[in-house]
Amino acid sequence: MDEALKRAGIHKEHIDGVAFTKGPGLLGSLLVGVSFAKGFSLSRNIPLLEVNHLQAHILAHYIKMQDEALKHPNFPFLALLVSGGHSQLVIVHDYLSFEIIGNTIDDAAGEAFDKCAKIMGLEYPGGPIIDSYAKKGNPRAFQFNKPDISDLNYSFSGLKTNFLYFIRDKLKEDSNFIKDNLNNLCSSLQQTIVEILTDKLVKASQQTGIKEIALAGGVAANSYLRDTVYREAEHHNWQVYVPKFTFTTDNAAMIAITGYFKYLNKQYANLDVEPKPRL
Ligand code: KG4
Ligand code: ZN
Repeated sequence: MDEALKRAGIHKEHIDGVAFTKGPGLLGSLLVGVSFAKGFSLSRNIPLLEVNHLQAHILAHYIKMQDEALKHPNFPFLALLVSGGHSQLVIVHDYLSFEIIGNTIDDAAGEAFDKCAKIMGLEYPGGPIIDSYAKKGNPRAFQFNKPDISDLNYSFSGLKTNFLYFIRDKLKEDSNFIKDNLNNLCSSLQQTIVEILTDKLVKASQQTGIKEIALAGGVAANSYLRDTVYREAEHHNWQVYVPKFTFTTDNAAMIAITGYFKYLNKQYANLDVEPKPRL
């Protein structure tokens, strides 16, 4: 907090409201945030603003850096929200009006990256590591299963199991299989995950007629997802918006910008508000 105030060149007396993450997230970290925010709100006598972490990922598009012209999506827009815990397609009608039209029925996209990375013995979080090995590999080297779901929902647990059994069988034949094929494995896996994500994004855009497309969440940092969505944009005449790299994975600025819109709407939280890990 001291560091943030220093960098912004302001004092705590200049702060008009304090935003915190109510959920979803890990209870331990949520408790630290809500406790600090309540204390700060009480001691300064300023409004307390509760923020949904997923909504904040999407509103990260409205974070404006000093001296920078901001190019942000126009309402209504379609957001592909992909993080470690969620994969959703959301129609954003207004700053604080969201409609979820697709959701994961099991694992999230980030979880698929992280769990498959673990199967290959890579560190956590696996997403960025897979992204970097994938750049040197062939996306068509191996074929993995894509789920067959008719609506706008996602599923990634079948792909994870398919990947696990594939690796297990290959290792029986050749104990160096992962090491010798790491770039191709990462590239093919990433290609499959991105195709699953973008197939439904195309479908959602066709169903809703919305061509303003925004990416959000940690997995939006993925270079192949970004490239693929830009490629699709040419076919479908989309306007695509990708947040700045630093604002894709979890960050405090996205919580602040969401708190700002709630502050303008006078949507203040009460002091008895509690964190909700599964909000
Ligand atoms: O939004 P986020 O920071 O935290 C959650 O709210 O979950 O997302 C974290 C997720 C992790 O699963 C991580 O592996 C994934 O985002 N991720 C990536 C990349 N950078 C982060 N996945 C694929 N490619 C990346 N470059
Ligand atoms: Zn997040």
